[in-house]
Amino acid sequence: MRIGIFATADEVADQAAALIIRAHARPDFVLGVATGGTPIPLYERLRAAHSAGRFDLSHARAFALDEYIGIAADHPERYRNFLCHHLIEADEGTGLRESHLHTPDALAEDPYQAAADYDQAIRDSGGVDIQILGIGADGHIGFNEPGGSLTSRTNVGVLTARTRQDNARFFDDDLSQVPTQCVTQGLGTIMEARHLLLLATGAGKAEAVAHLVEGAVSARWPATITQMHPHTTVLVDEAAAARLE
Ligand code: F6R
Repeated sequence: MRIGIFATADEVADQAAALIIRAHARPDFVLGVATGGTPIPLYERLRAAHSAGRFDLSHARAFALDEYIGIAADHPERYRNFLCHHLIEADEGTGLRESHLHTPDALAEDPYQAAADYDQAIRDSGGVDIQILGIGADGHIGFNEPGGSLTSRTNVGVLTARTRQDNARFFDDDLSQVPTQCVTQGLGTIMEARHLLLLATGAGKAEAVAHLVEGAVSARWPATITQMHPHTTVLVDEAAAARLE
């Protein structure tokens, strides 16, 4: 695991963008994309690099980590819509085609089958080259909450009360609007990406980052499984690094 600590969240985004821009040249590049607040500044930089002619996902595929179950198809926080906005629509996007943006079909009648199909689609694509990850305050990656299997495949997951509370800010602070279930790539699926790029910013992530980097590998802090990956890069700002020894 390589760790970079930077003064600000903007610098974390600069470094992450530079890393992805350097790596994206292969024509069949597959980018794993996260949602949530953390990667938004990174996506801004990727769009700016696209405008400047330095970055182009027009031949690439992107796979989301997860999707809410029970959210309206046109809700802006539906992760497919979030990713369409940040990667395709805003500022003329990154070149990514909507048909090349893959998200779990959480509207399907059988979300368990949709999860299995999604896992297979990732494999069929040849696998993810770089997987962008955020981290929950409770140590989740994707929506793999504490106590789950460290080797799970894409599946239906249940959001913890803490994660729903943390995400209420995206739903007008109305907890009742935050979905309770999701389809999420499993930890085993995430670990098959060739490079994991985990970003954490802000003091609210300091405890999770301390476990991620210095704790024992344990389902209690799911992100610790990334210690076992041969190519994990963790980029954090000083606030998120505050509890590192
Ligand atoms: C997002 C995801 C989650 C978030 C995590 C942190 O697709 O799967 O693991 O990365 O909840 O969210 P933010 O960045 O909003 O703090």
